[in-house]
Amino acid sequence: MTEREQELIRLAEEEVEKNIEVVESDPYRLRYHLIPPVGLLNDPNGFIQWNGTYHLFYQWMPFKTGHGAKFWGHYSSEDLVTWKHEPIALAPSEWFEKNGCYSGSAVEHDGKMVLFYTGNVKDADGNRETYQCMAVSEDGVTFDKKGPVVELPEGYTAHFRDPKVWKKDADWYMVVGAQSESLTGKVALLKSSDLKEWQHLGAIAGSGMNGLGDFGYMWECPDLFELDGVDVLVASPQGLEAEGMKYQNVYQAGYFVGELDYASATFDHGDFVELDRGFEFYAPQTTLDEKGRRLMVGWMGVPEQDEDKHPTIAHKWVHALTLPRELKWVDGKLLQVPVEELALMRKDQLVKKIDLQLSGDKIGLEIRESKAFEMSLSFKDDVASFEMDLSDTIQLIFDASERVFSLRRKSFVTGEWESRSCRLQELSELRAYVDTSSVEFFLNGGEEVFTARIFPDGHAAGMVTVSGDGTVGEMEVWKIEPE
Ligand code: FRU
Repeated sequence: MTEREQELIRLAEEEVEKNIEVVESDPYRLRYHLIPPVGLLNDPNGFIQWNGTYHLFYQWMPFKTGHGAKFWGHYSSEDLVTWKHEPIALAPSEWFEKNGCYSGSAVEHDGKMVLFYTGNVKDADGNRETYQCMAVSEDGVTFDKKGPVVELPEGYTAHFRDPKVWKKDADWYMVVGAQSESLTGKVALLKSSDLKEWQHLGAIAGSGMNGLGDFGYMWECPDLFELDGVDVLVASPQGLEAEGMKYQNVYQAGYFVGELDYASATFDHGDFVELDRGFEFYAPQTTLDEKGRRLMVGWMGVPEQDEDKHPTIAHKWVHALTLPRELKWVDGKLLQVPVEELALMRKDQLVKKIDLQLSGDKIGLEIRESKAFEMSLSFKDDVASFEMDLSDTIQLIFDASERVFSLRRKSFVTGEWESRSCRLQELSELRAYVDTSSVEFFLNGGEEVFTARIFPDGHAAGMVTVSGDGTVGEMEVWKIEPE
């Protein structure tokens, strides 16, 4: 470790030490989601199950609640439920990463954990350079930096970042989020036989390619994987115009389903579909775990979307990661299902109701001001409308005649109601994870998901009412108390 690296790590640790109390005393602090110990967290990075243990790194700015020269923070877990905060994995100490160890991924090779990340470099005039770098670990805790392994290929601006690496047969592949010289968003594909020498095969997707029209000026955080017989490309494009119910956030995160032809380096794909219909979701990353599950975690935030207005900033921290979700491809639909291990967090059952008739009168649930709970509802097929209100901050509304599902939220900036919606043929099931200042709603077995931050008055999210027209076949609520 260089002296500069030691110094940066020491300063970051001091910052954590100094602020532990102010962060922990925040009534909006999340109970079972991953948050930074202090400062700003953004993208999930390096998600991997390695020698049985899950490792989840994250973009971290320890010194302020804004963006800057990022570190890689590090959490590990045996069960995706209880997480341990590990020592800092990467600090932006060297010339090739001096303005940030930006996003990237992890693979296992020869028993070692190998990280790929973007070294972000800016000069005094703001000109950018980018290096895709490698770091290797034998113990999963300390990382030996190997420096840049990929220089910027021709045809792109220096907005070339976020390497995601995987193995296919005997070779390694990397997708990188990119911007072409004509300022359009792209995903570049590279290939290597040894993880050190990389060959650029070309752009496989992007604005103006594969039947897409104008589709943004930059694509961030790509991820490409096989799922139940199809190839899925996840990306976070920037520069899409809002269109009806779609693309309402400042930047988007979604996927294309298709087939990657490794020989010709072409990706034939369908339409872009947003992964999450809520307010805060961006830059997700997946991994294949030892059980063969494709797991995904996202950043519960969006760049430049009122980031500096989050009430938690008063307590010196901002943003969180989503819960881990298992991805499935079923009957032409991508489903996101909260991982089954989350059931380990259930404590007391607060509510159990069978055959609950909905009416125009709001029925209150006995959640006793709990801040952290899981809720599951299954509906009979007579549901014409459904509404759920949560602490005067969130409303869920389904109207079967319109076939639209909406999430309304009281803005934490203006206090006005704002909404996000999607088409939904029917409402058969709803699962909710409420955690103090966040909500994640999974509809119909994960067919649609809505994620949002909420900041209810009095800091409690536990006042819930349901109303509508139809029958809830079964409703259960569990208090969640992480260890
Ligand atoms: C996405 C992103 C990435 C970049 C990282 C920097 O949120 O902008 O493209 O690597 O965040 O923190």
